[in-house]
Amino acid sequence: MARPNRVEIVDVGPRDGLQAEPGMVTTADKIALIDRLSAAGVPAVEAGAFVSPKWVPQMVDTAEVLAGIVRRPGTRYPVLVPNSRGLEDARASGVDEVAIFGAASETFSHKNINCSIDESLERFRPVAAEALAVGMRVRGYISCVLGCPYEGEVPRENVVRVAGELDDMGCYEVSLGDTIGVGTPTRALALVEAVAAVVPIDQLALHFHDTYGQALANVLACMDAGVATVDAAVAGLGGCPYAPGASGNVATEDVVYMLDGMGIETEINLHALVEAGQFICSKLGRTPTSRAAQAMSALA
Ligand code: HMG
Ligand code: MG
Repeated sequence: MARPNRVEIVDVGPRDGLQAEPGMVTTADKIALIDRLSAAGVPAVEAGAFVSPKWVPQMVDTAEVLAGIVRRPGTRYPVLVPNSRGLEDARASGVDEVAIFGAASETFSHKNINCSIDESLERFRPVAAEALAVGMRVRGYISCVLGCPYEGEVPRENVVRVAGELDDMGCYEVSLGDTIGVGTPTRALALVEAVAAVVPIDQLALHFHDTYGQALANVLACMDAGVATVDAAVAGLGGCPYAPGASGNVATEDVVYMLDGMGIETEINLHALVEAGQFICSKLGRTPTSRAAQAMSALA
């Protein structure tokens, strides 16, 4: 069995979560959330996105957020950049890791970043090269790996091709996004196995939204194939502004509870994580979708 004994969690809540919240969260609350996540031991906290504020207004204060957080030694704070303008802004904010984000579906690519898959890859190549040249780490995302809100089925070959291109550009990791959370464990595993033919399995991450309640099961199936990096959002925040009806990512609390119970190391303090989720939910006027957080809060 290839199941890892340590899993790296990337909490994407402050970005993937808050980008989809209809209300604006204050800069101070975003900073407090990120600082709580890092203090809970989350090794990578996605801190924002340097994207067009006309497209995603919720991320407009990413520079201020980065200026306000307390950078914890050993914690990474990646941000999304769609183009060279985003990369410049990231550099100006002292960012040392960026994520470029493509898609396996043409329609989603147009809706999300206003260009075709091939055009996006052409755009990302110099962005990745420049980021690497100045010493940044570059992560690559692929959306719609198990289905598209506009096109439905997405050919697996599209995912494999984009993954190979991102790897070729120097991405240290490719994160497979089930943007609309339609995957099930056997399909998720088959996808990971197919992509592993072009990108080593230890350079893959799982990024599963939980729309159909399958995300935790999908994570477990793919972990058993050896994937050891999992994207998750505290309190199960979010969705994607360009994927109508999609719910948030798998809740970080649920992933950590499962891994703790399996004796798989994350270095995250679950109680502190639950408190971080309660903090942001109190600001948003909602409850965490995380079942583990709900259960632990009921006991507290
Ligand atoms: P465009 O309109 O084609 O770009 O958008 P443009 O180059 O023509 O520029 C239009 C305007 O945006 C100009 O301003 C630019 O200056 C400005 P104007 O002259 O009109 O005042 N602009 C920028 N401003 C700030 N930062 C920038 C930037 N670039 C241009 N970096 C563009 C193309 C890519 C910019 C746009 O489509 C965009 O920003 N898209 C981002 C969408 C997004 O953030 N989506 C959510 C993240 S992806 C996701 O959630 C999926 C993921 O979680 C994985 C999964 O679950 O599947 C990662
Ligand atoms: Mg996402």
